[in-house]
Amino acid sequence: MKKETFIDNYYRERHNSDSLKWDALSERFGQADLLPLWVADSDFSTDQHVKEALITRIEHGIFGYSKTPKDYVTAYQGWLDRHEQTQVKEEWLRFSTGVVQALYDLIACFTQESDQILIQPPVYYPFYHAIEDQNRQLIQAPLVNKDEHYYMDFNALEALFTTKEIKLFILCSPHNPVGRVWRKEELHRLFSLCKAYNVLVISDEIHSDLILTNRPFVSALTVAKELEFEQLIVCNAPSKTFNFAGLLNAHMWFPNVQLREAFDHWASTHRQTELSVLGQVAAKTAYTKSDEWLATFLEIVRENEQYIRNELTAAFPDIAISPLEGTYLMWINLADVLNGEAVKTLVQEKAKLAIDFGEWFAKEYDTYIRINLATKPELIHQAIRQLIAAIKGER
Ligand SMILES: Cc1ncc(COP(=O)(O)O)c(C=O)c1O
Repeated sequence: MKKETFIDNYYRERHNSDSLKWDALSERFGQADLLPLWVADSDFSTDQHVKEALITRIEHGIFGYSKTPKDYVTAYQGWLDRHEQTQVKEEWLRFSTGVVQALYDLIACFTQESDQILIQPPVYYPFYHAIEDQNRQLIQAPLVNKDEHYYMDFNALEALFTTKEIKLFILCSPHNPVGRVWRKEELHRLFSLCKAYNVLVISDEIHSDLILTNRPFVSALTVAKELEFEQLIVCNAPSKTFNFAGLLNAHMWFPNVQLREAFDHWASTHRQTELSVLGQVAAKTAYTKSDEWLATFLEIVRENEQYIRNELTAAFPDIAISPLEGTYLMWINLADVLNGEAVKTLVQEKAKLAIDFGEWFAKEYDTYIRINLATKPELIHQAIRQLIAAIKGER
């Protein structure tokens, strides 16, 4: 499909649709007159095939307790095979209403109060909340930032594994907000360490379909299998990929039978939620029919990314923008263009943009912003014009 056709068919005006991104600006930013490029959902409607399947299901009119649609996993296995050559087995799968809910549940199930849990800042802020809200101890192995290229610090990781008692490590793969898609060699090295020090890993792979380079995504499942590393749970979901986070359907994969049984036991006494009928109908359809929709969506994301990179570097040659390998979230350091101003003053009050502030992901990243690219180019152009004018003192 052509990008222009995609934009005509799928872009939606979202004001007054109870959208968190568009309709909660006053509550979240204290200002309603902002162009929203923050929370990670998209301004494009999900694929027509998905809508048709949902409409057919809705016409039925009964939304009682349900079971997972027949061939759901086959549909997902087909998708994984086409997109990333990951092998999963049906019996490994458990559902959740969301990946964040899954993180809370897995922490509750597999750790005790005061246990040490490791993350790699700057990272998706609910990782901090899921650990601290449940009175676990937060341990940090910050990513190394070399001129806005981000790497894991394996020596620091090994030092922490040796000196601390890390029970659980939460990996973000691809990494939000820095946009890294971890290479196979990096995951190999990481899981070799986790295996040696017997650390349980949760790999949050919610952005795994949002890959912007030619290098395919490598799942933790693939690397763990090669290393015979058993202490792994993978979380992923169709929600970012196809833009239906509100349908509340996410996956947890437990290749290891002991972990799976331990979770089932915990869930039987702590978690009595039902499946999302509409979420599962939508996902099954998307996994079989939405390859083209996703390919065109990613082309638009790439174009938006390139536009921002070109415009900002033309206007301010020193500006530091990370390469974006995956996710539709762009990570930009404004340090060299702030001229003593606070990011909030410049970006929110002057440029009138609602973005994710870098300090939400790690305190020291307070000169950074994260821009959501999942919208039509026209809005990205408007946002960048406003940002450049604000930096130049013209607004
Ligand atoms: C890394 C990561 N995990 C989880 C989520 C949210 O997942 P859910 O809506 O399924 O809770 C996001 C959303 O941006 C994310 O970036």
